[in-house]
Amino acid sequence: MTTTEAAPPALVGPGVDRVDGRLKVMGAAHYPSDFSLPDMAHAALVRSTVAAGTIARLDTACAAAMPGVLAVITHENAGRLQKARRNLVFPPPPPPFQDAKISYHGQYVAMVVAQTRQQAAAAARLVEVTYDRDEPVLSPDDPAAKPRSNPYFIDMKRGNIKAAMAAAEVTVAGTFTTSAQTHNPLGPFTTMAHWDGDTLTVYDSTQNPFHVRAVLAASFGLAEEKVRILSPFVGGGFGAGLRSWPHSILAALAARTVKRPVQLSLTRPEMFTGIGRRPSTVQHLKIAATRDGKLVAIDHEGTSTASMGSDSPYPVTHGTTEAYACPNVAARDKRVRLNIPPIAHMRAPGEAEGNFALESLLDELSYELGMDPIELRLRNYAEVHPQTRLPWSSKALRECYEVGAERFGWARREPAVGAMHDGRWLVGYGMAGVTYSHYQAKCQARATIRRGGTAHVCSGATDIGTGTYTVMTQLAAEVLGLAVGRVEFELGDTRLPQAPPAGGSGLTAALGSAVHNTCVALVQRFLALVSDDPNSPLRGCAIEDVVASDGRLARGDDESRSESYAEILERHGLDELTADGDSAPSRAETGVLVGSLVVARLGRFGRKLVGASHATVPAGAFGARFAEVKVDPELGVLRITRIVSVTDGGRVVNEKLARSQLIGGTVGGIGMAMFEETVNDPGSGRVANATLGDYLVAVNADVPDIDVVFVGEPDPNNPIGTKGIGEAGLVGVAAAIANGVYHATGRRIRSLPITIDQLL
Ligand code: MOS
Repeated sequence: MTTTEAAPPALVGPGVDRVDGRLKVMGAAHYPSDFSLPDMAHAALVRSTVAAGTIARLDTACAAAMPGVLAVITHENAGRLQKARRNLVFPPPPPPFQDAKISYHGQYVAMVVAQTRQQAAAAARLVEVTYDRDEPVLSPDDPAAKPRSNPYFIDMKRGNIKAAMAAAEVTVAGTFTTSAQTHNPLGPFTTMAHWDGDTLTVYDSTQNPFHVRAVLAASFGLAEEKVRILSPFVGGGFGAGLRSWPHSILAALAARTVKRPVQLSLTRPEMFTGIGRRPSTVQHLKIAATRDGKLVAIDHEGTSTASMGSDSPYPVTHGTTEAYACPNVAARDKRVRLNIPPIAHMRAPGEAEGNFALESLLDELSYELGMDPIELRLRNYAEVHPQTRLPWSSKALRECYEVGAERFGWARREPAVGAMHDGRWLVGYGMAGVTYSHYQAKCQARATIRRGGTAHVCSGATDIGTGTYTVMTQLAAEVLGLAVGRVEFELGDTRLPQAPPAGGSGLTAALGSAVHNTCVALVQRFLALVSDDPNSPLRGCAIEDVVASDGRLARGDDESRSESYAEILERHGLDELTADGDSAPSRAETGVLVGSLVVARLGRFGRKLVGASHATVPAGAFGARFAEVKVDPELGVLRITRIVSVTDGGRVVNEKLARSQLIGGTVGGIGMAMFEETVNDPGSGRVANATLGDYLVAVNADVPDIDVVFVGEPDPNNPIGTKGIGEAGLVGVAAAIANGVYHATGRRIRSLPITIDQLL
């Protein structure tokens, strides 16, 4: 089709405003907590105050007697809930309220359902719980914290690490630690459930509606068609909504118990224990190189903390295998089980942490060698995917370094530590490279053109604030030749065609490709309709022969011969024409696993997580991050004064939204570097900073101007040319900042967040 294939799309598309922006500003975009039904009741939760043990006694009489209370539900009266099917990548929660066992502080032990939210919350405080407390295991250093291997355990090798390390001219090594973090989407996760006979309808804060549907159907022994999940707007996710959580099951249980619709909205403190966390990690890394800066061996071991229950896999070392050309690499991951709340993927899960270690130690090596940090990276540039030796689908990392260095003014950097000053501030320049593997799952969509000349396109995905509504509207409009304002995109409903989760930075690629293919199929349906229509100027045209614009299809060889969708529909007595379509997983995700580790049946997301799994087309986003930092050596104060973030994410469909993603990622990276840490009280396992006042995030005063640049070319891996960028924006920021701190002060910070005491 000439519009999209003869003229390849520009790398950077226009900055179309959010199509849902007006709804959001007007308060007309309904988030799960905005939905209300007649007779709706409210649930409030009671959480365990011990981290390990069993419930000895529950006294619910006072709570049950409170005004407005409809039910108090505990493991003693919840009834049997069934286990959902095993899912290795996004494990379902164990059914709540099935026994008296406690494995973390904050675990739900009771639920009060009342007429109002306030009544439920007040009564919940009166539920008395006595525990037989066990000694919790809260630190990875606790001798009781035995590492357990698990099916996701990574143990990848290429070459001969031992021999290469032994023979190396230069080696550097370090232990790096990163903190536990909490996603903290602004929108409190909320489930509103109502039953109509044995049909369950649920409004839910989720990035993965089909997962919630599967879990709820299983919990209550229903066919999946009997469960409908709606999530038209989600107030942020950051990975917390990729899994399903006990509160969603409990809301449905409450609604079934009181035979009324029930809303269950988590409080902010509950958001710190109920929807996952980024685990803390400890990484041991050793790098060997020749004197002239050729990497000869990398050995990377990561340990992340995990809960005692079912957790998502969280490998941190796999990025190390594909970032640089290095003949001998070992990367392995283990987990330590603790009495902490469940962990979940969080924004560049594992990749952000692994990159911090790798890019910090490479920086260390550059000083050891007396070599410019960019030069060191260029000497080890992975021209092909280093684990498989296959060419990348596209790669502009070199351009990322060049453009970033130019815009940042890297040439002004004085190489010696502590050489740059601004008054009493020490000034440091740091940089880091980014390699972020591509993920694209299969996806379905449906597109309709109506007699009035408007299009309706839909898929059961979610928009967690990234701009899915807008980008999909643009992509559909482009193929159909309609103005953006004449296309309506609908999502957030499991009755729509099935879509993968909004995760892994892969939804634009998956859903965008499905929307593209579906709209192409729809144009083909129009052409099929007129293929032997003597009244049509398009008679006998194949899709390659036509151009779509202004709601019309025209012959490519003579654009004066055209007709509108509306005319075709009218002549054939149709109100509308619909096509279903889909997109296949990108070829980067198919085929056999290559590498020394074969993980069977992990699914596409799992293969992405274990890394080095690219079979036919290795693909990834790339980037370079540059940070200017200032440190007051007397006060230990660290300020970030400039950041340049350059990314090769393939084609950028919407410049404004993509830039916003990169800025958000950078702010997240500053948070990771300087502020964010979920603190568990070492005695009790209680989250000690479970409020937005106590859990520090980067605020405006901490964030400098961020220069965001896109480079590269549309990627050939999918019809829309995109690679995922959302999460890659966070990756590399912490290392660039820590490397800047070293350049300014000579202090090598290997533990995040960087705190004042580390700089004094
Ligand atoms: Mo992201 S952790 O894939 O939501």
